[in-house]
Amino acid sequence: MLDIEKIRGDFPILHTTVNDRPLVYLDNAATTQLPVCVMERLRHHYCFENANVHRGIHTLSEKSTSAFEEARETVKNFINAEYTEEIIFTQGTTDSINLAAEGMRRQIREGDVIVVTQLEHHSNFLPWQRLCEETGAAFHVVPCPDGIPDMQVFAEKMRLSPKLVAAAHVSNLTGTVLPVKK
Ligand SMILES: Cc1ncc(COP(=O)(O)O)c(C=O)c1O
Repeated sequence: MLDIEKIRGDFPILHTTVNDRPLVYLDNAATTQLPVCVMERLRHHYCFENANVHRGIHTLSEKSTSAFEEARETVKNFINAEYTEEIIFTQGTTDSINLAAEGMRRQIREGDVIVVTQLEHHSNFLPWQRLCEETGAAFHVVPCPDGIPDMQVFAEKMRLSPKLVAAAHVSNLTGTVLPVKK
């Protein structure tokens, strides 16, 4: 079972108070707080193994490289991916989605359709909008009255056989959980 108190115990910042109340932090999509094990691992890295990854043949570089590749394996197992090659480290969401959009460029043509929702953060909106502008594809935005995607409009967009639908599972603006399976 999920032991919330144990998990909170791993995050020193959650032991602080704001306005005399214990801190509750929900802005993880913008900046994620670090558990102690991550801080300690980073400290260890900078103290004992900081060097160029995959670019050097000296001891520190080899240490750094194997730690980096072990992290890829850990992430692969954590998210149940099939291959380590599927794990690509980026600077964050904006960087990741720009990379994905750039990677799809050759598969998107004039007349294709890309669908997003009005709830999307800019990082999941602008890269697709730009891809459409540059390729001549049509950019469709599903309206979200009351913070919830209009599922009837969504169904209409799906009938256009979009090449891509980009939507967050949970909106950080409204807390809406999108019916992704549906
Ligand atoms: C909900 C949400 N999605 C995406 C992003 C963009 O994340 P990144 O800074 O990793 O590009 C943010 C950043 O504030 C965010 O709040």
